[in-house]
Amino acid sequence: MSLNRDIKTEMLLAWYDRNGRTLPWRSDPTPYHVWLSEIMLQQTRVEAVKEYYRRFTEALPDVRALALAPEEQYMKLWEGLGYYSRVRNLHKAAVQIMEDHGGQMPPTKKELLALSGIGDYTSSAIASIAFGERTPAIDGNLLRVYARMMKEEENIKTGTAKKKAEAWFLEFMPEDRPGDFNQAVMDLGATVCLPNGAPECGCCPWKEFCRAHADGTELRYPVIPPKKERRKEERTILLLIDETGRIALRKRPEKGLLAGLWEYPAAEGALNPKEAAKTAERILSGANPAVAVVEELPRAKHIFSHIEWHMTGYALRVKRPCAAGAGDPGEDRPESMKMLYPGNDSVSGKTEAVRGGAPEGEKEKAADILWVTPQELSATYAVPTALVKYTEWIRDHFDRTE
Ligand code: ADE
Repeated sequence: MSLNRDIKTEMLLAWYDRNGRTLPWRSDPTPYHVWLSEIMLQQTRVEAVKEYYRRFTEALPDVRALALAPEEQYMKLWEGLGYYSRVRNLHKAAVQIMEDHGGQMPPTKKELLALSGIGDYTSSAIASIAFGERTPAIDGNLLRVYARMMKEEENIKTGTAKKKAEAWFLEFMPEDRPGDFNQAVMDLGATVCLPNGAPECGCCPWKEFCRAHADGTELRYPVIPPKKERRKEERTILLLIDETGRIALRKRPEKGLLAGLWEYPAAEGALNPKEAAKTAERILSGANPAVAVVEELPRAKHIFSHIEWHMTGYALRVKRPCAAGAGDPGEDRPESMKMLYPGNDSVSGKTEAVRGGAPEGEKEKAADILWVTPQELSATYAVPTALVKYTEWIRDHFDRTE
């Protein structure tokens, strides 16, 4: 036991040595492992991260492999975690590390902060855990523990509260185990000083020092202002399926929500079947398609931080004059497509088919569409989790073996 450590530090580290969680990235905390796990942990729960972390490190085991990886590969490995700008930044930073640091992650918070996607929290987490720098990694757990320990009355989301928490932890963060100290407080926050509902104060190594516990006001802290209401957006998702069983994808704009990801063509508003077919036709107008709704899909909802998508969906069959196999629709068609194209009749013969010329200026839209097989869709293209209900519909309607 080191005599110049604060008593709180001693008690916390002793608790961590007995109760700290066994996590894959802790058994081999290379800078790359710590970095990757910290970015993933900003997306989802520890339990969910484990499998993503295993797959990612197996496919891309170090900074060099990540720097050399093609976009579709690291995007696919991230599929389901959301917030794809994080994995784009991981890749960008890996390239920076190869080019500017000889392939080694820089060892200080200051240098780490210069890398893409590495901010105040992540730089402190990597610097402390992988390189032993004394710097508190202030996440929601540390803020909550601090707020209860000190009965912090300030809104915990403010920069002022964060600065106070940082200064408070820094006072007794030890020289010899700063990374363990940070992770101990994270574990304390995740397993004892719980965010929702009553904390397990009976098991807390800091209960004697906690001001909120002293007067039973733990649930009043941290002080969090009420959330602003999210904007609700109605959207219609169009699963356009051609005669060969290919599905239409298009790339979202490079800026904004889900930037640069592949998605099914969609339109604003909750469209009825006729409007959906007309819209699909407009989107594909350059290719002179014939479009017909074949199924109304379940409604779905996805919540982003500031927006909610309320979705209506349709499966539509499309006859593309230039599609691979379009000249012989019956033969090339998978078994599972028979429900979309019963018999051998052409789509344009159906009464509900909408046909029309391409309005001027919209021809380029069809060129933005990529037609992929269900196999390519699941193996190569990262479609956002927001659309998972529609991706599942595709999976359910096409045999996996085809
Ligand atoms: N949450 C974020 N980073 C963590 C870590 N290193 N250990 C435990 N929980 C975490």
